[in-house]
Amino acid sequence: MIHDNIRPLAKLVDASKDFPSGDGVIRVLKNIDLEIFPDEFVVVLGESGCGKTTLMNIIGGMDQLTDGKLFFEDKDFSHPPEKELTAYRRRSVGFVFQDYNLMPNLTALENVQFIAELADDPMDAHEAIEKVRLTDRADHYPGQLSGGQQQRVSIARAIVKRPKLILADEPTAALDHNTAIEVLRTFEEIVRGQGTTVMMVTHNAEIARMADRVVRLRDGRIDSVSDNPHPLRAEELVW
Ligand SMILES: Nc1ncnc2c1ncn2[C@@H]1O[C@H](COP(=O)(O)OP(=O)(O)O)[C@@H](O)[C@H]1O
Ligand SMILES: [Mg+2]
Repeated sequence: MIHDNIRPLAKLVDASKDFPSGDGVIRVLKNIDLEIFPDEFVVVLGESGCGKTTLMNIIGGMDQLTDGKLFFEDKDFSHPPEKELTAYRRRSVGFVFQDYNLMPNLTALENVQFIAELADDPMDAHEAIEKVRLTDRADHYPGQLSGGQQQRVSIARAIVKRPKLILADEPTAALDHNTAIEVLRTFEEIVRGQGTTVMMVTHNAEIARMADRVVRLRDGRIDSVSDNPHPLRAEELVW
């Protein structure tokens, strides 16, 4: 895919991140240059500990860079005031985590409504639940749902805000193969159907085959970035 004249949605420029370690610091992300384009499905692939979650947290405004810059739609979010960062997180980014993070005492629908109430221009929570094909489970509590269904509720919760970017951190790592494929199919429908950008982080190389673009991260650096001219469908993946 040629991205020459397309304005990136999010962009990291020479971005590095240190964490305190013992007496000093450890550099976990090292001089990352990365652009994420509108409507693409990007998979960040790398082994455990290579910095994937840190990278996602920085792009999502949950953590801040040590050096370098983060732009979102050309606006500099490298070191914004906390209030601006909170607004950015709320408005522009939807999150999906490995362990769902649903509220146990709210139903599927209420979990989605709760987030919709914090957003500027949410879609109807019922619509979000329908998009993840859980209308018949809307009144169930998380404890009454399978892992895959809970993860689809958390996808509904991410899309209800109509974010430009959805960040998903190992969203299928806790699921068995068939359930994982169901969840990946839901992501696929969101990217291909609604033109939402998804950046998914995983250690599973097979999942990278359904991406438009694959970013390989190794020891805090970008090892390679490659395009998939023919991304596979979720149901074609096998592991
Ligand atoms: N808050 C933190 N404080 C100190 N070290 C951290 C912190 N978060 C992550 N790290 C370290 O940064 C490295 C990358 O972590 P992480 O981004 O979670 O990797 P991945 O998601 O690829 O497994 C690891 O060595 C981890 O121990
Ligand atoms: Mg991680």
